[in-house]
Amino acid sequence: MAISRIPHQRGHGPLESWLRRAMTLLGPASDTPRLDAELLAAYALDMSREEMILRLHDLDLPQGLDALLERRLQREPIAQIIGRRDFWSLTLKVTRDVLVPRPDTETLIEAAIDHFGPREGPERILDLGTGSGALLLAALDLWPKATGLGIDVSPAALAVALENAEATGIAPRAHFRAGDWAAGITERFDLILCNPPYIRDDAMLSPDVADYEPRLALFGGPDGLGAYRVLAGQIGELLAPGAVALFEIGFDQGETAGNLFRDAQLKVALRRDLAGNARCLVVTRR
Ligand SMILES: C[S@@+](CC[C@H](N)C(=O)[O-])C[C@H]1O[C@@H](n2cnc3c(N)ncnc32)[C@H](O)[C@@H]1O
Repeated sequence: MAISRIPHQRGHGPLESWLRRAMTLLGPASDTPRLDAELLAAYALDMSREEMILRLHDLDLPQGLDALLERRLQREPIAQIIGRRDFWSLTLKVTRDVLVPRPDTETLIEAAIDHFGPREGPERILDLGTGSGALLLAALDLWPKATGLGIDVSPAALAVALENAEATGIAPRAHFRAGDWAAGITERFDLILCNPPYIRDDAMLSPDVADYEPRLALFGGPDGLGAYRVLAGQIGELLAPGAVALFEIGFDQGETAGNLFRDAQLKVALRRDLAGNARCLVVTRR
C-alpha cells in the first residue's frame, strides 16, 4: 500500500496519525512495526524515543519521515537507517559494513560475568571477528582496568569498531588489528569473545539480513561450522591460566561445534538462553 493512500485519522496529532499509518504499513514487513515506526520518528526528530512518546501530542511531523519509512519498507534494518544500535551498556554506530549487534550476543557478556564472578575481572580481552566492536567494547566498559584487542578480516568493519571505541571513550584501552581469526597472535588472554559467522551457506535468510548485512559476517560454510574448525585449533594456545573463551553458536550447533573444541582437548560447557537453546560455548583448558 502506498504511504499516501492511508488517510490521517481524526482526533490525533499529526505525528500520532503518522505512527499509526506507519505501523499499518510496516505490519507485513517487520516483526516490530510499532517499535520501528517510533524509532524512525524519534530519529527524524533527533530526540530519544521516550521523550518523543511523552510529547507525542504536541510534536509536528519532521521532514523526511516518509523517506525513512520507505527505506524500512524496502527491508533495510532500522539500525542501518538510523545508524546506531544499543548493545549492553553502549550505543554503537552501525553501517552496512558490520553485523547489527544482536541481543542474543549479550549472552556472551552474561557468561563472562558468571565466569569471573565477584573476582577481579579479566585483564586482557580478545574479540575475534569484532565487527562493530560490540563484544570487546561492552566487556571493556564492564571491566575498566582491562585492555583488549579486536580482530577482524574486514578493514571496513575495523574502521567502524575504532569509531565506536573513540565515541565511547574506550579507545585508549582497545586496539584493533586486521587478521584471519587468531593467526599470528602470540599473546595470552583472560577472556576471549567470539561471535563468528555460523549460518549454513544454503540457509534462506529474510531480506532484512540477506540484502543488507555483510556476507562475511553471516555465512560459515556448507555446514556453518567452518570458523569453529579453525578456531578450535587456535584457541588453546591463547588461554591464560583461569581464562575462558566464549563462542556464540547457532541454536542447533551445541553438540557439533562443541565437539570440535573437545577434539582439541578443551573443556566445553553449553550456556542456554531462556528458551533452553544452547547459544554459547563456554571453553576452558582441561
Ligand atoms: C557474526 S559477525 C560478529 C560481529 C560482532 N562481533 C558482533 O557480535 O556483533 C562476524 C564477524 O567476523 C568477521 N570475520 C569473518 N571471517 C573472519 C576471519 N577469517 N577472521 C577474522 N574475522 C572474520 C566478519 O567480518 C564479522 O565482522
